Amino acid sequence: MNDAKEEIKSRLAVEDVVGQYIELKRAGRNLKGRSPWGVDKTPSFMVSPEKGIWHDFSANKGGDIFTFIMEVEGISFKEALEKLAAQAGVELTRYSGGDQKVAEKKARAREALTLATRYYQACLAHSKQVCEYVFYQRNLNRKTVEQFKIGYAPSTGKAMVTALKKRGFTEQELDTAGLLNRFKGDLFRGRMTVPFIDTSGQVIGFTARIIGNGEPKYLNTPETLLFNKSKFIFGLYQAKESIRRSGYVVIVEGNMDVISSHQAGVGEAVATSGTAMTEQHLKTLSKLTSDIRLAYDGDEAGVKATERAIMLAGDLGIDLTVISDYHGAKDPDELIQKDPRLWQQAVEKRIPAVDWLLTKYEEHLNLNSAPDKRKYSDVALKLLSFVKDEVERASYEEKVAKRLGVEVSVLREKGDRLTQKLAAKPKRYLKKPKTEPPRSTQLTKLENSLLALKIFGGITNTDIPLEVPADDARLAELELIFNREHELADFDLEQEAAELYARYTRELNQHKIKTLSEQLSAMDEDDDDYSKLLSEIQDLQAL
Ligand code: UTP
Ligand code: MN
Repeated sequence: MNDAKEEIKSRLAVEDVVGQYIELKRAGRNLKGRSPWGVDKTPSFMVSPEKGIWHDFSANKGGDIFTFIMEVEGISFKEALEKLAAQAGVELTRYSGGDQKVAEKKARAREALTLATRYYQACLAHSKQVCEYVFYQRNLNRKTVEQFKIGYAPSTGKAMVTALKKRGFTEQELDTAGLLNRFKGDLFRGRMTVPFIDTSGQVIGFTARIIGNGEPKYLNTPETLLFNKSKFIFGLYQAKESIRRSGYVVIVEGNMDVISSHQAGVGEAVATSGTAMTEQHLKTLSKLTSDIRLAYDGDEAGVKATERAIMLAGDLGIDLTVISDYHGAKDPDELIQKDPRLWQQAVEKRIPAVDWLLTKYEEHLNLNSAPDKRKYSDVALKLLSFVKDEVERASYEEKVAKRLGVEVSVLREKGDRLTQKLAAKPKRYLKKPKTEPPRSTQLTKLENSLLALKIFGGITNTDIPLEVPADDARLAELELIFNREHELADFDLEQEAAELYARYTRELNQHKIKTLSEQLSAMDEDDDDYSKLLSEIQDLQAL
């Protein structure tokens, strides 16, 4: 492994690796730049090409190219090694011992995907009908088609498989690459293909659009050894330079929006392919820039996605704004078809995400009515609880108070009450029963829904005695559940919580009865606790 490390180091200059993320300027024998962690006021990031190291004086970290990639991408040493090995053209399989099998598999999958890309590109060139779709209906030009390596997967069922097998690939290898359907034929058929290209320029999968109308509109590579959709950012490879140069990124909904945007001169566009934004997506982008502009649709889904981004943004120090002026077009691509200049202007004209959401919340409410004022304050306070900066939050509180025509102190009081409720921990259960039978899925489901509602729905009326979990993964899971089941702008959440709580209590009682009964049956009749347990069960049954 050390040999591989040294070989990679000898092939990659530290200033080139770092230079992909930070703009570096000469300063004597060293190079200087701004901290990628965004905490410096003046350039405090130094690179020494001679020593092959970097140091960030504001964030107090430093090291070699491997530690840099680990820090900046938030990945493990192994992942950093693989990434840099790919950039350096070093075959890790020749060095590694233990993970050799996996590394070999990945390498073969990469080769297969590269070849498939070329195969699809050739097929596009040979199909007049698909060229007509790509060049005239979607209005893509040659340069764009080449830059994004767009191609065409023929509809004959096994064309790609046959072509790649001829070049020595086995069925197993093609499957690992995610190129096969469950009948071991071509996964993509009769579709325009757009490869997923990772940040080192390698193809790791595809998204494929049907030509014209049909279902499903897009088909994507499943999760594979190479493709992880919660990490992958479509277009980032092509957008990196522009993002660094202009200092902002535009997140659009569709992959085709990314492609059109680049063609229209807005090369800062990226998308999270066929999935909602994850913390990993946002983390990766926040390392490149803190100016993140969302260009989602203004519909329910867009509101939800924007709320989600605000929740995820947390401590990342991101300046989140919304691009919303599409001149009536349904997405950036459609706007660009009208006039690319309109899109270029739209990207400049943005509103802070919180302001945008506050306006959205108002749309369904009549702020002259007291109950609607309550609803508005519920949802607004919930939103503001995610604004980490005290000054920024205070300024929004004033704004909301003004909209409601109440003193800001009243609003804050309500805010405090809501937060306290959230933080308040109920008393611990007396003692866990020794033998607890497995909980029914129904009970688990109800508990999850209820907890999600309690934490993310800003429930005020019900005293739901469920502990707010401390661990992040569990919270993220509950947030997902909440997002799937509710809108922040749902206003009957209180009612729903009350009903859910009633059902949950019933289900929980059944579970308790079952647990206690099992304990009882395992107990000796003259045990001191026997009669106590028995009456406990009878009490529960009487409820
Ligand atoms: P849209 O339906 O808005 O796609 O879905 P679009 O980009 O405007 O498509 P065109 O312009 O008609 O070609 C937005 C995104 O949702 C994912 C894709 O990533 C798409 O870009 N999606 C959509 C799928 O993964 N599968 C689908 O069947 C549809
Ligand atoms: Mn579209």
